[in-house]
Amino acid sequence: MGLGKLLHSHREHADEGGVIERPRAYEVVAELAYLGGRRAAFTRLAAAARPRPGDRVLDVGCGTGYLSRILSPVSGHVTGLDPSPAMIAHATERAPSNCTYVVGEGQDLPFPDGSFDLVVSSLAMHHMPREARPEALRQMFRVLRPGGRLLIAEFSPPSGHLARRLVGLLTGPAMRHDPHELLGSMIPDAGFQVTDEGRLPHLMYYVRATRP
Ligand SMILES: C[S@@+](CC[C@H](N)C(=O)[O-])C[C@H]1O[C@@H](n2cnc3c(N)ncnc32)[C@H](O)[C@@H]1O
Repeated sequence: MGLGKLLHSHREHADEGGVIERPRAYEVVAELAYLGGRRAAFTRLAAAARPRPGDRVLDVGCGTGYLSRILSPVSGHVTGLDPSPAMIAHATERAPSNCTYVVGEGQDLPFPDGSFDLVVSSLAMHHMPREARPEALRQMFRVLRPGGRLLIAEFSPPSGHLARRLVGLLTGPAMRHDPHELLGSMIPDAGFQVTDEGRLPHLMYYVRATRP
């Protein structure tokens, strides 16, 4: 059994990560997966999002709120959204005073148009149903103000066949994806202007974009 089966309660297809219902198990797996480097990896990722003081930030697929807690001291207010009530409860219990958490889906964001300056989403696109991903990006576009910024981060599996199989065995097929294939042209198709993309340590790949 892959670790994925321990964490996910339901998903439509094996290559979709699905909704995670076990926050404590997720935290243990995440700490182990980063071999002690999770804090450093997410601090780098938060810096790549280039938060500014006063920013209204939305974290889509926030899970246990790990990234939003790192973003909170350098932003105005951070809202985290996840379809899992258990993940949202876990995040809420640990919320700094400028973070709030909401149960909801990326493809149906319950926020008014233009209500955020920065939208981030880490390791969450591959958890959404495949057919919901383009709409999730359109929703992120809608809730950003003109000039607002987007950072999407995905796991970038190792290129070697064996290493990739090992990752798949440990975590399930959803983590074996190539992030370029996963995202395709969905970000520009949603209306964004892609500014750059890059890689960070710990097999992290990101795309930065702006809403014109
Ligand atoms: C691997 S976790 C990443 C959590 C967090 N962003 C992080 O980097 O630690 C993926 C998260 O996506 C959530 N998710 C699943 N389907 C989703 C959807 N349709 N919209 C938003 N998030 C979703 C899962 O419940 C899970 O908490």
